[in-house]
Amino acid sequence: MNRFLDLADFERAQIKDLLGLAARLQQHPQPNALAGKVLGLLFLNPSLRTLASFQSAMMRLGGTSVVITPGQGTWQMETRLGAIMDGAAAEHVREAVPVLASYCDVMGIRMFAEGRDLAADLAETQFKMMADLCDKPLVNMESAASHPCQALADWHTMDELNVPERGKFVLTWVNHPRALPLAVPSSAVHMAAMRGMEVVVLRPEGFELPQQVMEKAERAARESGGSVRETTDRNEALAGAHVVYAKEWGSPRHYGDDEAEARLRQNLGDWCVTDSWFRTTDPNCRFMHCLPARRNVAVADEVLDGPRSVVVREAYNRMVVQMAVLYRLLRG
Ligand code: CP
Repeated sequence: MNRFLDLADFERAQIKDLLGLAARLQQHPQPNALAGKVLGLLFLNPSLRTLASFQSAMMRLGGTSVVITPGQGTWQMETRLGAIMDGAAAEHVREAVPVLASYCDVMGIRMFAEGRDLAADLAETQFKMMADLCDKPLVNMESAASHPCQALADWHTMDELNVPERGKFVLTWVNHPRALPLAVPSSAVHMAAMRGMEVVVLRPEGFELPQQVMEKAERAARESGGSVRETTDRNEALAGAHVVYAKEWGSPRHYGDDEAEARLRQNLGDWCVTDSWFRTTDPNCRFMHCLPARRNVAVADEVLDGPRSVVVREAYNRMVVQMAVLYRLLRG
């Protein structure tokens, strides 16, 4: 394994093998496995979990890490090819990425969607340009259309909690003050399909996931024996659910048009997960969210603070599965 960019780049058996390694490293720590190795982390967007969990994972394996957050103690960076750099950015990623890679044994890059051109974002145009600049093993720490480390942690969390492999996984759209990227919902729906689950995407009219995202999940479901569908019917979706996975995302219909998107969202205040959403779910139904989550906009206090919520465990498992990813990238 030389790159960890998307779960779809791997067979289901390879992902299960990686999850097995994560569980072994969790139970039997190897504090010197990556001694002397350096991880370079380039964050073009903010983070709490990804930053802290990668640094912690590397330290727990005996390695160290370098964090670059352009504009915060580091030169602001230009990402556009052909840009005339007479503005705030003093450095171009075309130099910055290979320079950072030259100091490191493995790199992670976070670069969210531009949010203007849906086709370009789904094609990962920007992240591919960055990946081409890096000659070291590389991890996607969230790109325009994929957040594979989150997906892997979510899979591990469901395994730990004995959520049935054939269980019902409901990815539900939830409210947010502005349009958010498609990376987490796309990865979550694909991951659950790859796990073999009955996947239902619950969302209001106008927030259907792009066809490309659904087709990718459907391909994974065909191979795993799972299924994938979309609905606007909340009662039908939630009945018997084993997992309610909440996520905010922008309307693909109005991609890059903030005003039209806001108009579509203005009457959707009831898309905030409350305890009442769990009346007909499986009694052990879990609530999942990748975090950060806006309390009482996306999810009510009563759910986040209640016994169904496993959001902190998901975040902890980011560190666990990333230890396995780093181990595989650096030790094979
Ligand atoms: N879930 C997640 O990636 O969190 P951060 O954005 O804080 O890294």
